[in-house]
Amino acid sequence: MSTQAELFSQRLRAAWQRSDQILGLIPQHCYLNRPIGLRHPFLFYLGHLPAFAWNQVACSALGLPHFSQLLDLLFERGIDPEGEDGARAQSIQQWPSLREVLAYRDAVRTALLPLIPQVLERSHDALCEHGRVLNLVIEHELMHQETLLYMLAECPPGIIPHSPLYPLSKGGAGRAAEQVFIPAGEATIGARFTEIPFGWDNEFEQTTVTVPSFLIDSLPVRNSDWLVFLTSQGHAEELFPNAWLRGPTGLQVKTVFGPVPFEHAEGWPVQVTGQQARVFCAAAGGQLPTEAELHRAAYGSPDNASRYFPWGSAAPAAEHGNFGFRQWSPAPTGHSPAGASAFGVEELVGNGWEWTCTPFAPLPGFRAWARSYPGYSQDFFDGAHDIVFGASWATDEVLLRPSFRNWYRHSYPYPFSSFRVVRK
Ligand code: AVJ
Ligand code: FE
Repeated sequence: MSTQAELFSQRLRAAWQRSDQILGLIPQHCYLNRPIGLRHPFLFYLGHLPAFAWNQVACSALGLPHFSQLLDLLFERGIDPEGEDGARAQSIQQWPSLREVLAYRDAVRTALLPLIPQVLERSHDALCEHGRVLNLVIEHELMHQETLLYMLAECPPGIIPHSPLYPLSKGGAGRAAEQVFIPAGEATIGARFTEIPFGWDNEFEQTTVTVPSFLIDSLPVRNSDWLVFLTSQGHAEELFPNAWLRGPTGLQVKTVFGPVPFEHAEGWPVQVTGQQARVFCAAAGGQLPTEAELHRAAYGSPDNASRYFPWGSAAPAAEHGNFGFRQWSPAPTGHSPAGASAFGVEELVGNGWEWTCTPFAPLPGFRAWARSYPGYSQDFFDGAHDIVFGASWATDEVLLRPSFRNWYRHSYPYPFSSFRVVRK
């Protein structure tokens, strides 16, 4: 195998290893659990990852036949219905057995690795050039690891066993946000198709926008800040974070391994919906940032040069922020001053995605370039999904490129998403 093929093979196997680690946290008898009513049971994800890989690489890119007509199609795509009724309508009555899906996964993986050189040879095909479809499969797997983890955090306490392999961050009050002035200037969103080896369709084409000056909080809103706000709002039920629990001895905050006492998590960024975040911002005399504002705060600088990471060009490391599975929970705000942007804004990449008020929509020059997956983004350009910016502890470092764009339904409470306030 060429070194390029070797590298893809190694990255695929590393991604599989972490998927197995995460799926391995689920007790066998819980695979049909649906901790999130709007999603399929865990078993779906076990089958979805290999099915997606085979459908993309073997069927679409190389024109090979299905691996298993039945399983390739059953596990082809997940669901994102608007409500629980929609989820019930799309639900599947009879899933294959766990053993059957595990055998399918292993057989697909074994058959996939030898196809890598064939993909790389087809460089006349945009889907294969630079191994794009391989990156697509790897990044799809990495994103689903985060999906799985926020589903695990929705399991009733006591189901997911904790082990020292998965350190939770320490507690602490965190640091309160200060307001930072960002002068008017440009933000560059997205990338040029020919300039990066791989990007999802929504990352193209590159767009430069002028952003008027604004004030932005140096840090995200903490659980303790939200509790003060919730109290000021008379504990309105619609403002109670789904990530909190009313435990027998007081408030608790959910983690993948069950709830922790509120006092432990008080300094972590609060996990709420985009809608809830907007209410907080309004009460604080501000707004949710736009995607362009967060870009400018993260990658812009007073001298108008733009940075690749908020902290500069150094490879992402632990001191720069809470991403890449170094710990398995958020950390108290203010934990990574070395990750501050040129303007001194902290934690823009890491420690939780951040809600914006920008609807997920195509950049000018958008093309669904992946003929194998035309709906990846287009299916969500519907005004109900907003951009979330940054990364969480469960975001792989590969996804930290500045053109990467993520999004969720603004009423969706489960993802590891927080927010900060801007004022104009
Ligand atoms: C880009 C994270 C919003 O999880 O819905 C995985 C990624 N799309 N399979 C999602 C995705 C299809 C997507 N997000
Ligand atoms: Fe998927």
